[in-house]
Amino acid sequence: MVHNTPTSVVTIERFIIEQEQLHAHATGDLSGILRDLALAAKMIASKVRRAGLADILGAAGTENVQGEMQQKLDLFAHETIFKAMDHGGRLCAMASEEVEHLIPIPEQFKRGKYVLLFDPLDGSSNIDVNVPVGTIFSVIRRVTKSDHNAKGDHGTIEDLLQPGRKQVASGYVVYGSSTMFVYTTGQGVHGFTLDPSIGEFLLSHPDMKIPEHGRYLSVNDAYEQYWAEPVRALMRRYRGLDGKREAMNVRYIGSLVADFHRNLLGGGVFAYPANEKSPHGKLRLLYEGNPLAFICEQAGGAAIDGEHRLLDVKPTELHQRSPLFIGSKGDVEIARQLFHEAAQKGAGHGQDVAHRGGANGK
Ligand code: AHG
Ligand code: MN
Ligand code: MN
Repeated sequence: MVHNTPTSVVTIERFIIEQEQLHAHATGDLSGILRDLALAAKMIASKVRRAGLADILGAAGTENVQGEMQQKLDLFAHETIFKAMDHGGRLCAMASEEVEHLIPIPEQFKRGKYVLLFDPLDGSSNIDVNVPVGTIFSVIRRVTKSDHNAKGDHGTIEDLLQPGRKQVASGYVVYGSSTMFVYTTGQGVHGFTLDPSIGEFLLSHPDMKIPEHGRYLSVNDAYEQYWAEPVRALMRRYRGLDGKREAMNVRYIGSLVADFHRNLLGGGVFAYPANEKSPHGKLRLLYEGNPLAFICEQAGGAAIDGEHRLLDVKPTELHQRSPLFIGSKGDVEIARQLFHEAAQKGAGHGQDVAHRGGANGK
């Protein structure tokens, strides 16, 4: 009997180092950030796995048998990432969906040339019902001058409020039936699956590409009553109701990372349009939209806020929200064209405010 020889096993650590060697001037800082994030992801994954046991082991906000307070999982995820990243000497500031203001690097640690922005636990309301959740991150080079770790050499809000096209790395972790770490440094998108028995992320999805058109439409259409007419028209198009294209299949988990990940593999669009009640949509530009937009473009897809490329939007606030249409290039282009035509005709469609930097806080 002939056995298939196993294909080569590549850990995320090795892959990151090999990628780094392609850049003559790389200092290793970005690689270090990615390795630290992979470690944080493993710690969060192991906690998420046990989330269903909270009732027997003690729910969040209660005391466990050791007399320790149980933390809410999204705060645990935030703390885990912060603690994994604060002392590496590679960051000068962080920002998290869970924290209102810029997070400085503690005084005792060296500061570096990057900033990190993250959504520690995306889809956290799904934890209680055992549905996939995720982590999203974005790395940008600081723009303020660094005077080589002298005291007070902290990053500023200016370093954090940069358009998404300035990202040097972004990625997400999906804690699903298996845990996956997917990232880009602008050299394609690569996915790693956690082998829990050895505690390593192994390369499972090299050079991921999203199909030009896809079959999945992900949108919460309970908001239909609050959508402007062009958004409704777009959804009719995606559903094949105007006879101009084949109907897509609707899939909506309610965890952006999980919805996005499925569509990245199968093709299609995730949409969170503006609506009358949320004039900028719900999703955060810096912690959710931009990092996934960078991944999506690197995989051959597109991401817009309505009429404009998301990565070109200049943020004005840390917790700024933005409408989001992201996925297969051809399908996102349908949205862009439709909104563009509506804008030409002067029809308000609720999208036109996002790119001017309007925001509503958390
Ligand atoms: P978070 O848990 O980080 O606050 O994000 C929740 C988000 C996102 O994951 C998801 O796509 C969206 O909320 C769902 O919102 P609706 O319930 O309004 O559809
Ligand atoms: Mn989120
Ligand atoms: Mn979150």
